[in-house]
Amino acid sequence: MHFELNEEQLMIQQAARDFAQQELKPGVIERDEHQKFPAEQVKKMGELGFLGMMVDPKYNGSGLDTISYVLVMEELSKIDASASVVVSVNNSLVCYGLEKYGSEAQKEKYLKPLAAGEKIGAFCLSEPEAGSDATSQRTTAEDKGDYYLLNGTKNWITNGSTASTYLVIAQTHPELKHKGINAFIVEKGMEGFTVGPKENKLGIRGSDTHSLMFNDVKVPKENRIGEDGFGFKFAMKTLEGGRIGIAAQALGIAQGAFDLATQYAKERKSFGKPISEHQAIAFKLADMATQIEAARLLVYKAAWLKDQGLPYTQAGSMAKLYASKVAMDVTIEAVQVHGGYGFVKEYHVERLMRDAKITQIYEGTSEIQKMVISREVIR
Ligand code: CAA
Repeated sequence: MHFELNEEQLMIQQAARDFAQQELKPGVIERDEHQKFPAEQVKKMGELGFLGMMVDPKYNGSGLDTISYVLVMEELSKIDASASVVVSVNNSLVCYGLEKYGSEAQKEKYLKPLAAGEKIGAFCLSEPEAGSDATSQRTTAEDKGDYYLLNGTKNWITNGSTASTYLVIAQTHPELKHKGINAFIVEKGMEGFTVGPKENKLGIRGSDTHSLMFNDVKVPKENRIGEDGFGFKFAMKTLEGGRIGIAAQALGIAQGAFDLATQYAKERKSFGKPISEHQAIAFKLADMATQIEAARLLVYKAAWLKDQGLPYTQAGSMAKLYASKVAMDVTIEAVQVHGGYGFVKEYHVERLMRDAKITQIYEGTSEIQKMVISREVIR
């Protein structure tokens, strides 16, 4: 067993770190304040190959491993989780799903521009009444011969208005329950497809979250992914990898907050010495560092399992469950270490605290991760 990153991974980590400092940090407070999507920055991340990291170069991807992907997610998330969620969704939920389960024609038409970062993708599973209970899809896709007629509403969709390619999960055969669900590729601009207003959120405010409405949208048959009835499995398998990406995001948020808290604690003086020399603060930093390291090991292990072609369902859920809890705990403590300064926007930690919360909710809440883990360990 060895814990070192290889040269390529170190190089990619450094590239992401530099990008986050130079391109994401300036303006991150303003984008959060005004809920502004980091459009320019996403374009540049596409040019750097961050939007199709694990995709085969023959489909315009970077052909990298999952470890490199989590390293990039971690570095970007230290600074701007609104930007990193775009990377996570595009890589894990959209590109991965299309490359693994799409037809050759779908890969040519849809995967190539997504992996190159020329287009952005969205993954549309959640509905007003089907969040955690994902088998209860109300969106319907009626089989009309050479097309499906799509009707329904999707909620809280990341990249809702900025995406061009949407993977939409819908029910075709309600009597078959989850075995009747399909996944479809829907293009922006298809007649009957509309995007609702942007959600006004607690955190990741720069990210573009919308509901989507489908009203008699004609989706060509060739846009169905996989066999008839494969949609629920498609969503589950895709989310398994997505959870590793979000775990890495949570890890980055925690590390970003820890770095700020440590730096502040060394500079800020009270009672005649830096506050880092007061045990009350020093022990907080010790706890934070230990939690972050444990989360990192879980995240890297899950990514490593995926790279080895070994099962990673349980490892991915454990990584997400734990890292998201660490992100929440560490960011709260980072605000506390900063005292009054922590409560104002210029010091960044209050944003990281708000951003941390979503990692316990999206791509399966912490309660869902416990369901997945408990089923695996009992099995
Ligand atoms: N891989 C393959 N198949 C799986 C699977 C997996 N990981 N998990 C479940 N399945 C299969 C089961 O085998 C079963 O199929 P069979 O009957 O053929 O065996 C079928 O799916 C139904 O499974 P369950 O009986 O376990 O279904 P359930 O309703 O009890 O639980 C669940 C399923 C795990 C709770 C699932 O509903 C779930 O993951 N819910 C959370 C949904 C979620 O993560 N949403 C996130 C939205 S996306 C998002 O947030 C993206 C974003 O924008 C950032």
